[in-house]
Amino acid sequence: MRISDKQVEAELGKLGVELRRGVCLAELTSLGIGGTTDLLRIKGHDAIPAILDVLDRHRLPHRFVGGGSNLLVDDGELPWIVLQLARPDPDVVLEGNLARVDGAADLGRTVTFCAKHNLGGMEGLIGVPGTVGGALRMNAGAYGTQIGSYVREVKVYRAAERRIEILRGDQISFEYRRTSFGPDDMMLAVTLELPSKAYKEILQGIRICNEKRRSSQPIGQKSAGCIFKNPPGLSAGRMIDELGLKGLSVGDARVSERHANFFVNSGNASAADMLALIADVRGRVQEAYGLELENEVVVWNA
Ligand code: EPU
Repeated sequence: MRISDKQVEAELGKLGVELRRGVCLAELTSLGIGGTTDLLRIKGHDAIPAILDVLDRHRLPHRFVGGGSNLLVDDGELPWIVLQLARPDPDVVLEGNLARVDGAADLGRTVTFCAKHNLGGMEGLIGVPGTVGGALRMNAGAYGTQIGSYVREVKVYRAAERRIEILRGDQISFEYRRTSFGPDDMMLAVTLELPSKAYKEILQGIRICNEKRRSSQPIGQKSAGCIFKNPPGLSAGRMIDELGLKGLSVGDARVSERHANFFVNSGNASAADMLALIADVRGRVQEAYGLELENEVVVWNA
């Protein structure tokens, strides 16, 4: 979708929005897949309700993108404008055991920054790609850690109410890869309460998690992390592996040889290729085990 109306462009400009024309979302997603649209970079939070108001008035459908690391975007010309928060500097401010983190901050850098200031707890999240806002929205987790456990407060743009709200941690439910946020809510900032821990000790934990990840996941290849959620008590990766599906491919979309719940883009995979591979694997798992795997990856179908 393109913003062709000069009046819209002027209104957005007044609100401090940077318009990037014809952005290819393949360049913004870790899968390297996705079509083209106009992108709005938003600096600061206060103008967000007014920006969304402009888009509503001019009937311009929109979606929010974070780090693009858990996202499968359709091919071709996309039917929505994409909104992205610009990262402020600094993006983390510490105050005792509290870390006030901007939603656009990089998760891994936030974990190491806090570690250097002797704040731990999030070692397991090292190596999870994406922004803090994205991690929060879906309660990212790994190696026994989930970000939701440390949330004291969240500043969120509530799309349904069209306003910015501050929510206490206990007003939000964090479950396995699921939260009570609405699908269009935008994570603006979060206050994390982290346990004090010596940097050396945190570093040790970080090294162990990095090592485990390197040995079991296709690091450095284009992927969206795990494609499916684990069914309760089971591992989707193991189930797919047991069916001998590692290496199965549709075009350049391929089930990783290293971890069967990672589907990689080994070249120029399209969204159609990846969706066909997901459907194929889901069907085979359903047939063999009688259960339907649920996507963990967020799919934006045009
Ligand atoms: N396994 C296989 N074959 C495979 C993959 C896994 O046999 O191809 C076996 C492993 O040997 C292990 C078991 O399955 O015995 C579980 O595997 P793993 O430890 O890799 O964990 P997982 O359940 O597959 C989850 C998360 C990952 C997270 C890891 C580490 C989900 C869907 N996945 O994977 O998160 O990094 O644990 O904590 O919850 C993500 O969310 O994108 C993600 C990658």
